[in-house]
Amino acid sequence: MTNSGPNESQVRLEALLATAVDGIVIIDKKGTVEVYNQACERLFGYTSEEVVGQNVKMLMPPPYYDEHDGYLENYGTTGERRIIGIGREVLGRRKDGSTFPMYLSVGEGAFDSEPKFVGMIHDITERRQVEDDLREREARLASILQTIPDAIIIIDDRGLIESFSPAAERLFGYGFEDVVSKNVSILMPAPYRTEHDGYLARYLATSEKHIIGIGRIVVGLRCDGTTFPMELAVGEIVIGQRRLFTGFIRDITERQRTERRLQDIQADLVHVSRLSEMGQMASALAHELNQPLSANMNYVKAARRTIDGIRMPEIARAMELLDKAGAQTARAGQIIRRLRDFIEKGQSTRTCENLNEVVEEALALGLVGAADANVKVTVNLQAELPPVPMDKIQIQQVILNLVRNSVEAMQAVARRELLIRTMTEGGDSVMVDVVDSGPGLSPEVEQKLFQPFTTTKETGMGIGLSICRSIIEAHGGELWATANREGGVTFSFRLPQRDEMETSDAL
Ligand SMILES: Nc1ncnc2c1ncn2[C@@H]1O[C@H](COP(=O)(O)OP(=O)(O)O)[C@@H](O)[C@H]1O
Ligand SMILES: [Mg+2]
Repeated sequence: MTNSGPNESQVRLEALLATAVDGIVIIDKKGTVEVYNQACERLFGYTSEEVVGQNVKMLMPPPYYDEHDGYLENYGTTGERRIIGIGREVLGRRKDGSTFPMYLSVGEGAFDSEPKFVGMIHDITERRQVEDDLREREARLASILQTIPDAIIIIDDRGLIESFSPAAERLFGYGFEDVVSKNVSILMPAPYRTEHDGYLARYLATSEKHIIGIGRIVVGLRCDGTTFPMELAVGEIVIGQRRLFTGFIRDITERQRTERRLQDIQADLVHVSRLSEMGQMASALAHELNQPLSANMNYVKAARRTIDGIRMPEIARAMELLDKAGAQTARAGQIIRRLRDFIEKGQSTRTCENLNEVVEEALALGLVGAADANVKVTVNLQAELPPVPMDKIQIQQVILNLVRNSVEAMQAVARRELLIRTMTEGGDSVMVDVVDSGPGLSPEVEQKLFQPFTTTKETGMGIGLSICRSIIEAHGGELWATANREGGVTFSFRLPQRDEMETSDAL
């Protein structure tokens, strides 16, 4: 060590201080700065001349600025360590007043028999930035998970739950703590419950995908033991050596309920439409048969009068037969009338309904297939329609008939646009327009549009519109058609708020 005089160690120390990447500050027990290296100059923006000999607190923002002298004093008297030998993250203050996060480690030494403190300062702005970014990204992800309506569950390759989103908590009734690290099979009813581990093991062994990336409808088991139908889509994530599976789960109870309801309504409508087609047939038949039957009756009476007074045994027999023919004719009339009455007075239940909802439901049924027919459908419902009394199924049937006619008519043209709108009319009536861009009504049809058996279709019955008119008139409303200026037809009906006619004689 003879060669290394104080000069050489001085030179080495200077070199060390000058080349250190981290800031180095040495202070005395009062806090006066004795050493302030080049890294510190870069970090704080003060030159060494500006700092050496000053209280180190000039490098600190409040509250440290005001408290630092106290710390030193306290340490001097009690020896209680807050930072010495420990190190911690604090804020530094630059010459321009801005602050930055730094990691400060403080060591204690005694040079010249005086206690000194050595502070090593590492700028952690970048690390903080990365941490903040990460935290922000996590917060964003958490908020997405929080709001996403689908439940999300992440499991590891043994099937143990690692993550359970708030929607999953709501759906299954378990809290995160209840399920974390438990086997995901607790969310499944038997037999899946016992088979799931096997599925996973088989997948890991064979990579044969049964559900991953495919998605399917399975049954979920809630905390309270009830089950529900759910749509499950499973994805796979590989992070380093770890393999995780994400499950996206959607409760489809509601959808199934809606589908079932649609089926119910459809069945109802089919039923009603058969009934009213029969009723309509009966009315039409009654109407059509009335003429020949009454003519027949007149002929019978005339024939009877003609031979009345002729005294012959054969004539007496013929009279008897004519009376019988007359009675049978009268009976035929009665039978038809009774049939018509029976069907007309068939159960029709009136409830106060919002026409918009009725229209929407009918469209959900009626427009099945409209997309295939290449029809662009626009629905324009006026808000806050007054509820009106109606037989909902019958009114839906009217809408359905009108929509079907329009869709069918538009098959003959290239531009296929259907508009269905609702509105109030005269304050207390509600109205529906079904506007199409079809070919319009042909003149021969226009005359007898609402009469039974009017059709231009090969397989048409020609009774749809007459049924519609009967239904609307039975509700005290009106149904009519107008030609659109730009082509096509508008069928409109109006329903009064109060039932103006209790029974209809329209049939
Ligand atoms: N939107 C429409 N555009 C053009 N013609 C129509 C329209 N709606 C009905 N028609 C005509 O009215 C006729 C009677 O209709 P309808 O009573 O429903 O019986 P069907 O549909 O069985 O023919 C149809 O055949 C058609 O010629
Ligand atoms: Mg029709």
